[in-house]
Amino acid sequence: MKPKVLVTRGLPEPVMEFLRENFQLSVNPRERAFTREEFLAAARGMEGILPLLTERIDGEALDAAGPGLKIVANYAVGYNNIDLDAATARGVAVSNTPGVLTDTTADLAMALILAVARRVPEGDRLCRTGGFPGWSPQFMLGADVHHKTLGLVGLGRVGRAVARRAAGFDMELIYAPHGACPAGGVDPESGARCLPLAEVLARADFLSLHVPLTPETRHLLGAAELALMKPGAFLINTARGEVVDEAALARALASGRLGGAGLDVYENEPRVHPGLVSLDNVVLLPHVGSATVETRVAMGKKAADNLVALLLRGQRPPDCLNP
Ligand code: DGY
Repeated sequence: MKPKVLVTRGLPEPVMEFLRENFQLSVNPRERAFTREEFLAAARGMEGILPLLTERIDGEALDAAGPGLKIVANYAVGYNNIDLDAATARGVAVSNTPGVLTDTTADLAMALILAVARRVPEGDRLCRTGGFPGWSPQFMLGADVHHKTLGLVGLGRVGRAVARRAAGFDMELIYAPHGACPAGGVDPESGARCLPLAEVLARADFLSLHVPLTPETRHLLGAAELALMKPGAFLINTARGEVVDEAALARALASGRLGGAGLDVYENEPRVHPGLVSLDNVVLLPHVGSATVETRVAMGKKAADNLVALLLRGQRPPDCLNP
């Protein structure tokens, strides 16, 4: 008898095919995410759940699945949607999808840096609406990216991948670590110089966030931190919206204190703060950091590998997050 697995949203077909071959699948048939009630009902009796980052996996959800639940294989590298302690207390393994979306997300962070500095969406909008008046010396001036300072907040897999790309633009690299600075004060892999957060904020022309969302990083960039940023600097967020106090960011942008922002994530997704929507110096994307065909397939395969390891082979999942 194949183990019962709930997939909370249809995934790319090669992933679904693999999952169907190996598990007794229950798949959300709707063209939308489960409501909480639908999810709790669908989870009942499952041995494995493959949820999205939008599904809250807490004690209630784990209990709804029941004592047969062995693994939650998140379809994301971030796992702030899962109460890891509650899962561990119930003997449920939790896994994520590290590595496979690193470069894709870093590409998007770089795209946001370029788009906001060079006003790409604004120019596109102008051309489409007949607003291109012809070449002119003072028309649509942006900011250079090359030879500027990139400040990375967090230097994990994605942060380092952004650093590699930025090095190609001759950017100076500095970072505020998620933990302590390495001996010598320079990250040996990227060459980025490690500095306290306040110094990174004060020096960076572009500040890019790459920390996971935890109670400690929630509103890591609040009004006080935004006020420390270099005047005219740009903020890029491809991590989690809650790392930034969005209302404070909207104020800092509207006042002209910051040069702009490139955002892929929001505090209350899918809602985007109205104070951001009304500004031209903000590039807004709908949480698509990992959204390429190749990467969404790779994420599905990784989640499936974790399910296979535990449910079919009785092994610890390769990306197990429990202590
Ligand atoms: C993640 O994996 O955490 C991204 O936010 C979505 O792919």
